[in-house]
Amino acid sequence: MSALPTPKSRILGTGHYVPEKVLANVDLEKIVDTSDAWIAERTGIRRRHIAADKENTSDMAAAAARRALESAGLNAADIDMIIVGTISGDSPMPACAVHVQQKLGADNIPAFDVSAACAGFIYGMTIADQFIATGAARCVLVIGVELLSRLLDWQDRTTCVLFGDGAGAVVLGPAEGDGRGLLATRIFTDGSLAHALTIPGGGTAEPLTDEGLAKKRNKVHMMGQEIFRTAIKNLTSASTAVLKASGLTSADLDWVVAHQANLRIITQVSDRLNFPMEKFIINIQEYGNTSSASIPIALDEAVRDGRIQNGHNVLMCALGAGISWGAALVRM
Ligand code: ACO
Repeated sequence: MSALPTPKSRILGTGHYVPEKVLANVDLEKIVDTSDAWIAERTGIRRRHIAADKENTSDMAAAAARRALESAGLNAADIDMIIVGTISGDSPMPACAVHVQQKLGADNIPAFDVSAACAGFIYGMTIADQFIATGAARCVLVIGVELLSRLLDWQDRTTCVLFGDGAGAVVLGPAEGDGRGLLATRIFTDGSLAHALTIPGGGTAEPLTDEGLAKKRNKVHMMGQEIFRTAIKNLTSASTAVLKASGLTSADLDWVVAHQANLRIITQVSDRLNFPMEKFIINIQEYGNTSSASIPIALDEAVRDGRIQNGHNVLMCALGAGISWGAALVRM
């Protein structure tokens, strides 16, 4: 085997936050023409958590960030950059990250959003790793957060049953030369599929009008089957790319934390990577698809319950609107 890459950054701490309110599939049966059986069988989802009326995206992000800082044994003053992966920030302007900065009290550091939908966390880690590698930043908070429940058409059963709200975060800091850290990351975009998953209205191309609002142009529209097929192919290829870049094979992996969009997508990726489903961290049944938050939520749960341990090789992969996708291989 060729020499492993020398990581420049490593995960110092993880945290997550999900809202208290739970919406079960049986509750959705009262809202749209669907069933617990259909949702569970076609997606693996049983429940999702929904933000309270007064709770905003940046509140969830800050809560997850505080837990990640605590687990790293650090304070807001130790952080010198905040990157928030989100497509459902508090408002179109300014960035969600500026509210997170203010809520954490991490003054006078760069704080910005990354818009890569479900791949936002992988994009954020990739960017943070570069800043740490060059020495331009030392400790970076990377957060994935979404409050998609406010961007769904609750009369559209093809989308409203899929998503949930939540936030996950990691603190990345300098690697210590012991082989632990980010071994490889890869990120990709294919804009030819931009139409397949979109919130078409509310931007400069289609400012919102009464007609647009009536047509729910400010809500999520998705061509599910097209995304489904692409996800299986691209999650597999991105995962294979980071394995190759790290000089590892799937036999060297301890865990895979894949974006929790659909259990059937994950099963197919497991087949194609020839890596057993028991070694995939799965929590889609509890949270649904929390977009950019899904990987850091699952990662934090598995770190805290002791499944993922120091020294484990963990593959992460995600795909979402854009379409944008990517993977990261981390030795914890
Ligand atoms: N309840 C009951 N029936 C439903 C529901 C529902 N909630 N939704 C759709 N159906 C019906 C359809 O109307 C269709 O009925 P018909 O045959 O009479 O026309 C039938 O079920 C089958 O519909 P499909 O769309 O073919 O169902 P499919 O098996 O493809 O599952 C799903 C749909 C779950 C959306 C799947 O395609 C999927 O998971 N796609 C990928 C989603 C994803 O990964 N998104 C990316 C990340 S999200 C982000 O970036 C923000």
